[in-house]
Amino acid sequence: MQVTMAVNGVEVTREIEGRLLLVHFLRDHLGLTGTHWGCDTSNCGTCVVWLDGEPVKSCTVLAASAGGHEVRTVEGLEHDGELDPIQQGFVECHGLQCGFCTPGMLMTGRALLDRNPHPTDEQVREAISGQICRCTGYATIVRSVQWAAAHPDGAEATEPDVTDSEAVPSGSAS
Ligand code: FES
Ligand code: FES
Repeated sequence: MQVTMAVNGVEVTREIEGRLLLVHFLRDHLGLTGTHWGCDTSNCGTCVVWLDGEPVKSCTVLAASAGGHEVRTVEGLEHDGELDPIQQGFVECHGLQCGFCTPGMLMTGRALLDRNPHPTDEQVREAISGQICRCTGYATIVRSVQWAAAHPDGAEATEPDVTDSEAVPSGSAS
């Protein structure tokens, strides 16, 4: 069967099998390997893309059912060669180690900020609760999303203030 959809703003048409999953369509037919394929059982969330603006796990969506819809992948986050603030946040705050979970975290984080520009840490944790990171713990991921919330224009990060009470007194034992 033939399927046509808009992916990152570009209309694509391909001949596919009806059982093909969207994650495999993106990776194998379009070469968009930024969307990762992890568990294939809708548990890990690394395959998250947007379908008509809504984050979905692309291992749970048939490519055929995405026909006629708009898909955005992690490759579609940057603007004119500039990283999206959510991408910058992960760089600034060390939100990734191996990076396997990162595409899904970025897509979910961006979608959250588009709906709620100033989420609480709890709301960030709730938003990414369907996604598993085996490397970082979640503290740096939450911090990365909050960096993006604090820098909606992607401004350079500034060094955090260190107050006197937080500073290590000179000569103290380390
Ligand atoms: S590969 Fe889709 S949720 Fe894990
Ligand atoms: S950075 Fe390795 S799984 Fe999240």
